[in-house]
This record gives sequence, structure tokens and C-alpha cells, in this order.
Amino acid sequence: MKTQVAIIGGGPAGLLLSQLLMNAGISTVVLERQSREHVLSRIRAGVMEWGTVELLKTAGVSDRMFKEGFPHEGCYLSSNDRMLRIDFEHLVDSRVMVYGQTEVTRDLYNAQDAAGATVLHNVSDVVLNDLQTSSPYVTFTKDGQALRLECEYIAGCDGFHGVSRKSIPASVLKEYEKVYPFGWLGILSETPPLEDELIYASSDRGFALASMRNANLSRYYVQVPLTDKVEDWSDDRFWDAFTDRLPSTIRGQLVTGPSIEKSIAPLRSFVSEPMQWGRLSLCGDAAHIVPPTGAKGLNLAASDVRYLSQALIARFADNDPTRLDSYGADALARVKLAMRFSWWMTLLLHRFPDMSAFDLQMQAADFDYLSKSRNAQISLAENYTGLPF
Ligand code: APR
Ligand code: PHB
Repeated sequence: MKTQVAIIGGGPAGLLLSQLLMNAGISTVVLERQSREHVLSRIRAGVMEWGTVELLKTAGVSDRMFKEGFPHEGCYLSSNDRMLRIDFEHLVDSRVMVYGQTEVTRDLYNAQDAAGATVLHNVSDVVLNDLQTSSPYVTFTKDGQALRLECEYIAGCDGFHGVSRKSIPASVLKEYEKVYPFGWLGILSETPPLEDELIYASSDRGFALASMRNANLSRYYVQVPLTDKVEDWSDDRFWDAFTDRLPSTIRGQLVTGPSIEKSIAPLRSFVSEPMQWGRLSLCGDAAHIVPPTGAKGLNLAASDVRYLSQALIARFADNDPTRLDSYGADALARVKLAMRFSWWMTLLLHRFPDMSAFDLQMQAADFDYLSKSRNAQISLAENYTGLPF
């Protein structure tokens, strides 16, 4: 087998990159470890920076998003009974799109099918070879057969647990990580959302987030200790804890109901560098993980894909390697800014087990400053809706 760009991973990053490259006449092969059904069964966040929306539009996969997604011109932050709206529209003339990542991935798979893409599912034993040469290749197993894919470049879009980042020698790779001492318990319920916009609620009892998927599908989260298990949390216990963390003024408008999905995810900040080694370039979760507090996971995958697709198109269409040579540095610079914001939002909104009385005073002062300073709100709004590229 031979292609111009081998893409490891058929999640949002890999599929979006394949779609953008194919649209530019560059051949790709996507190798995905799981079945399509498995990939599409994952429940992920659902807030997109407008830059991500524009990139999906460029890729030709935005029709359903514009029909079924919800543009949001602001969001709420609360601290116990105080509630503050961050007005994206008036502060930074921007907005976000609320549209489930699962739906983005579904739209990408459909577009790849329509484009006649080669997406191989249920592959195993993926090994990246000769990355420091001009003719790298990938070996893998599919249906019990050992196969070899010759290519010119490899995009590692295989997530945190993939093989791509691990294909960079340990002597070269630098990794930075912060594991947070709590997780998020999330539920889906077929109930109308609490508010028209998201509510990031900080309280003395812990953090909660009110989000949504559509007018009758809500996505809610509560901060839980790392030791908790999903089976420790009945629906009643969830609703009590969630309600208790909301400002008292809005608790009465909450519509509860049975959960149709319930899961706990740990929170970590992780970034590895370089994002590029020889003919291998990393995109998305393969290179970095952010806590969901800033809604940056999918947006950073799209950010990396934007840089890498433009670099590869310049290389193949204009024989101009300059953007490809600087891809790792260009992508990483924007990743670190979003990493900072996600870390800052997590510290602002969560009660950490080891917080001293002074820490709590400073956290309250942080919220106070945000509520009084338009400049502080502009800073949050520009980071949340997406910094320039
Ligand atoms: N070979 C082939 N495919 C692999 C391998 C492998 N060795 N290891 C992992 N994969 C696949 C996974 O099955 C997954 O479908 O790579 C894909 C990686 O997709 P994601 O983990 O979704 O990562 P990414 O595409 O970067 O998207 C990031 O997804 O996980 C969320 O919160 C994250 O929103 C962010 C977004
Ligand atoms: C979600 O809708 O799942 C969601 C929204 C915003 C976040 C995290 C998750 O910051």
C-alpha cells in the first residue's frame, strides 16, 4: 500500500486532517484501532471555538452543525449564590457553537465516505518506521494479515494512549503533566437544559457544570473525589449534589430525570514536545490533554489540524516546506496558551482538597476581580472563544 500521508487514528483529529488533505488532492490512509461504532459511542464535550466552526466549514462538513448546533454568545460563571454572565458578543465580538463532538465525528465519517476515503478500522500492531528518513512507512495488522503502508509523512492522531507519541525517542521527548485530585461525574438526561447558556458553578460543596446537547438533552457534571466510582452515584444523589452547587436563585428551574449515560472522567493537564520528529507530526490528544473546564480538547485537536493541513498543502502543492518545518513550534505555542487557560479555569472553579483558608480567600478574590473588571472578562472571553492563530 502507498499514500502521501498516513494518518494514525480515526477520531476527530485524524478524520478532519484526512478530509482537508483529500479536498486539496493529497492522498491519505486512516488507520483506526477500533470499529466505527466504538468511535461513535464515545460521549465527549460539545463546545467549539468559532475558529473550529470555520475549519469544519472549510472542510465541507458543517451543514448539519449549522442546522442542529446552537451558537452561544455568552456563558455563566457562578460562585455560591453569585452569578456572572460573560458576554462574548459584546466583550470580544465572538461566540462559540454548542454541538456534540460525537456529531462532529459522525459528520466527518460521512464526509470521508462520500470522498471515497480509505479508513481502515480494527487495525492492530501499528508500528511507525524510518521516521527520520524521506520514506517512512507504517506496518500493521488487519484481518490477521500483516501489511505495510509506504508514505511520505505520518500524522499521529491516535490520542493519549496511541503509539505515535511513543515513537519519538524518550531521549528526545519532554512531557509536562499535572493530575488534578478530583474527577468529573457526567450524566446525560432527556430533560430541557437548565439555562440557554452553559453555567460553570463553583461552590463550597464543589464544582458543577450545566451544559446541553439540544432542547431536550442536557449534559451535567459534578466534581467528585478520584476514589468515587459511578456505582456510588445514584441519580438521586447526583441531582442533590448538582442542585446544591447551583446558585439558590436558579435551583427551582432545574428539571431532573433519569440518566441515560453516567461516567466519571479524571482531569489532567498534559503536554509533550516536540510535536514533530522527522516525518511524524502529532495532532490532538496524541500530544496534549487538557482538563474539560475550558472546553479545549476538540478545539486544540482542530487547531493542530489547521496548522498541519496548511503546512502539508503548502509542501505538496507549492513544494514549500517552511510551514511544515515549523509545524511543531507553531502548533505547540497555541496549545500552551489553551493549556494555561484550561488550568486557570480549573483552579478558579474547583475546591482542591488541600486548599488553605488563604487559598480560599484568593479564589474568592479571583471571582470578585472577574465580576468587577471588564478587562478580566475580556481576557476570559477571548480565551474561551479562541485565541487568534
Ligand atoms: N492505532 C490506530 N488507532 C489508534 C491507536 C493505534 N495504536 N491508538 C489509538 N487509536 C485511535 C483511538 O481508537 C481513537 O479513535 O485514535 C483515535 C484518537 O482519537 P481521540 O482520542 O478522540 O483524539 P483526537 O482525535 O485527538 O481528538 C481529541 O477527543 O478524546 C477527545 O477530549 C478529547 O475532545 C478531544 C478530542
Ligand atoms: C459538555 O457539553 O460536555 C461540556 C461543555 C463545556 C465544557 C466541558 C464539557 O467545558
